[in-house]
Amino acid sequence: MLPVEVLQLLAPQPGQTFVDATVGVGGHARLLAEQLGPTGRLIGLDQDSSMLEVAQSRLQGFPVTLMQANFDQLREVLDHLHLQTVDGVLADLGICSDQLDQAERGFSFQQEGPLDMRLDTSHGEPASTLLRRLSERELADLIWQYGEERFSRRIARRIVEARRQAPLETTQQLAELVRRCVPRQKGRHTIDPATRTFQALRIAVNDELAALEGLLQVLPRCVAPGGRVAVISFHSLEDRRVKQTFANRERWEVLTRKPVQAQEEEAQRNPRARSAKLRAARRKAEDGGDT
Ligand SMILES: C[S@@+](CC[C@H](N)C(=O)[O-])C[C@H]1O[C@@H](n2cnc3c(N)ncnc32)[C@H](O)[C@@H]1O
Repeated sequence: MLPVEVLQLLAPQPGQTFVDATVGVGGHARLLAEQLGPTGRLIGLDQDSSMLEVAQSRLQGFPVTLMQANFDQLREVLDHLHLQTVDGVLADLGICSDQLDQAERGFSFQQEGPLDMRLDTSHGEPASTLLRRLSERELADLIWQYGEERFSRRIARRIVEARRQAPLETTQQLAELVRRCVPRQKGRHTIDPATRTFQALRIAVNDELAALEGLLQVLPRCVAPGGRVAVISFHSLEDRRVKQTFANRERWEVLTRKPVQAQEEEAQRNPRARSAKLRAARRKAEDGGDT
């Protein structure tokens, strides 16, 4: 996503150390590693071990350290690697299409799979458990807040009615239920009515806003003065938090007065790019670096 713009804003130099906090399949990581060169170092994090395997093969031959970690643990990761600070951090939030394509992960409403949606499947609550546990009100709030879904109350009511008969266990059960609640829109760029509810559940299952908050909080203690940070977000709540963080002028110099968005050509190739917003900032030298 936005590869040229990310490189321009992060401006990686040979010999520097960067963190790709969401390494995914290693697309951005490879571009960064090429710029950092043989004397530089790239640290790649992902919560999903299956993504690290893909990234590993794509990044072979580069000085890269890959670790399974939530990016809100960035300070601990750097301590573990005996690094005080790094010169740049990239976070490209959300999930990759490779994860959507793994039906057994439950991220996709287009394929039959268990309602899991955990990025790290070694712990936490799968989406099916959340759908069983939450009250109708809590479900409606979650779908409204994280999915910006106008029909959240109706969907929550149907979920509660359905689970009285039998628990919702599969992606198709949920997708069909949502499709029956949401009228289909007409037009060129219409999305499946299940999109927003699936997004909301994924954000809740992985506590994605809390993780972003954790990352934003520790950045001043991880990035060297003059170092750069870039965040690509897909949700207005995420973008708002990034914007607010960089608005601290004592700490950050904003490099993107407005969020950078994908050109039409990239949006055509990749519909997800349509909602991507890239913001970047440079760490100022004056403050002590604590949160
Ligand atoms: C949009 S993809 C990144 C794609 C990557 N930039 C590339 O070029 O391949 C987001 C990745 O971040 C991971 N991720 C999401 N939240 C995370 C978190 N809190 N900590 C670590 N990794 C996370 C996901 O598992 C996914 O692999």
